[in-house]
This record gives sequence, structure tokens and C-alpha cells, in this order.
Amino acid sequence: MASFGLIPSTPDRMFQETFDGKSWMDICHENFKLQIHPGEKLKELHSTFLGNIDKSLQWDRLSGSMVLSNTGDEEKYLALQEEQRQDASWIAGVIEEGIKGLGIHEESQASSMLYVLFRLINTNAYRLCFWCLAHLPHNKVLLAEIIAEIQPAFQIDGKINMSYLLEHCPILASLYEEILRISNYPIGVRVVTSEVVVGDKLLRPGRQLLMPYAQMHFNPEVFSSDAGEFEAKHLLHNKNFVRSTSYRPFSGGSTQCPGRFLARHEVYMFLAQLLNRFDITLAAWNGNKASFPKMDGEIPSGGVMGPAIREDVVVKVRSKRRI
Ligand code: HEM
Repeated sequence: MASFGLIPSTPDRMFQETFDGKSWMDICHENFKLQIHPGEKLKELHSTFLGNIDKSLQWDRLSGSMVLSNTGDEEKYLALQEEQRQDASWIAGVIEEGIKGLGIHEESQASSMLYVLFRLINTNAYRLCFWCLAHLPHNKVLLAEIIAEIQPAFQIDGKINMSYLLEHCPILASLYEEILRISNYPIGVRVVTSEVVVGDKLLRPGRQLLMPYAQMHFNPEVFSSDAGEFEAKHLLHNKNFVRSTSYRPFSGGSTQCPGRFLARHEVYMFLAQLLNRFDITLAAWNGNKASFPKMDGEIPSGGVMGPAIREDVVVKVRSKRRI
């Protein structure tokens, strides 16, 4: 928590059971589910969020700080006037109100609390986009196949038929699932409620259990002898792998990630509009030939891993339309 800029008293307040036996964090957790479970709130989030991805992927918006690492946006967000944040999601407003309700008015603490949660839910999908974008220019055949496959999803009004992408694009789906399998290191967190023996281990009540799922994703008995290798068409060769109990990119049981549908929409929207609007090719940089980026395996992130430092993917981007 300190690395997010929180002073020790703030997490104490976040986790204190002050609201009828519930903590601020418990309430946030419930509100996240309200936001993300099917219904009006999710519909609105889908249309605003996916619409913003669509709008951002325009030629004249590609340069600038959006492609460089950036910090400090949290405080800038909270400093905006209300009318400048009209497109904020329901959950963003609820969290902000909750922070005030907890008596936290110091800007640095409020912004860090907001962004602890937003980083948690937003880190994974953009990293999936990164790995898709890293693989595609390295595999020109795959790139051409996906571009051809998604063509019918583009409507005359320029909008994307998301149902088409979801239901009729098996190569895109295979790429997505394979990247989730190979670059995702999810961890399930549970608290032991009663004594239980698992294998030769006795688990005692009150203890925390961390379940890293990635080992299962590399099991050769389930995912073939070359389970450690990336194979974009894995799902086409083995349609059942996504139903395997060894495949847990979003954990499982009652805490299975409720954002998994939104994440897929997000990545599909990004890739489809990117490939529809731009030609992407690898570029040499600083005299170095383009190479595939190494994953940062040093810090177990509990989700989709990022690239190691200085493992940038440098691409040449050309608009497919006349400018
Ligand atoms: C590819 C993208 C994503 C991945 C890999 C991912 C992964 C996970 C995993 C592994 C868990 C379960 C942890 C456990 O069992 O203890 C989880 C929970 C959760 N995720 Fe995601 N997530 C993603 C995207 C999202 C998005 C986009 C949202 C919301 C907009 C979201 C919201 C949540 C919430 C609220 C929980 C807690 C569920 C609960 O405890 O009941 N996730 N996620």
C-alpha cells in the first residue's frame, strides 16, 4: 500500500469494520460487483469505455504522452471540475463519495485510494493488448489472417459489430486465450475457515491461502508437450482447453473475475480498430533489430505480466486512410 502513496493510517481506515461490521473495502468490493454484473450500469460502462477506446485510436491522437509512461494523473483527475468528468463510471463516483464518507479529505490519500483500485482492475487488459500487439507484427501470416477474419465486423457507419467479433472470429479468440494462458500469472486468495487436509498439508482456520494458477497453465498433460511455448492457434487445435479445470486465467468459484467479459470486449475493440485503421510493422530502433520482448518475470504480479524494462516493441504505424 505504501508504494501506492498511502500513509499507514489510511489502509487502517480502509479495512476497519466501521459500517455495520463491514469495512470500506468490503463495501467497495460489493459495489464493484454491482457495476460489473449484467444490467444498466454495465451497459453504460461498456458503451462509454469501449467508445473511448474507439475515439482514442485515431491518427491525430497517437503521438504524445499517451504512449510514454506517465505519473500523477490520479491527482489531476480529482482536481477536474465535475462537468469535466461526466463520462466517469458509476463506480468512480461511488468510490469518491465513500472516500469522503470515511473522513479522508487529503488529496494525496484520496487519489491513491482511488487508484489502488483502478490499477487493480485496469492493469491486466492493457497488458493483453500489449502482448497481442507484440506477437502480431512478428507473425505476418497470423496478422493477415486476423485482419481478413475481422473484416465483416466493420459496419458502414464505422462502428464495430462486437457480436461478430465474439462469435465468428475463431483465430482472434485463439490468440486471446493463448495470450491469457501464457502471459497471465493469476493468484487466488482464500482464507481457511475450518481445518482441512489438502494432500499432505493441514490447513488451519484463519490462515491465508495463495493459489498460483500459472503452473497449471503450463501442464503438458493438459496443454500438450510444448505447453511452455506460445501457439496462437492452440484453441483451434484443442477446442476444449478453455473448459479445462486447469485453465484458470480469471480464478474460479465465487470470486471468479466478474470483469472477464469486459476485458475481452476491451482487447477486441482495441485490436480490431487498430488493425482496421493502421498498418503496423516492426521498426529497428537505435540501431537494434526488432526482437520479441522478454517478459518481466521478477515480480509475480498476480495477473498479466508486463515486459521487462527496456523491452519495448517499436513499431512503424501508418494510417490506412488518406490523411
Ligand atoms: C484480462 C483481464 C483481467 C484478469 C486476468 C483478471 C483477473 C482476476 C482474477 C484472477 C481474480 C480473482 C482473484 C481471486 O480469486 O482471489 C479477479 C477478481 C476480480 N476482478 Fe478481475 N481480471 C481482469 C479484468 C478485470 C476487469 C476489467 C475488472 C472490472 C472492470 C475486474 C474486476 C475484478 C473484481 C471486482 C474482482 C473481485 C471479485 C471477487 O472477489 O468477488 N477484473 N480478477
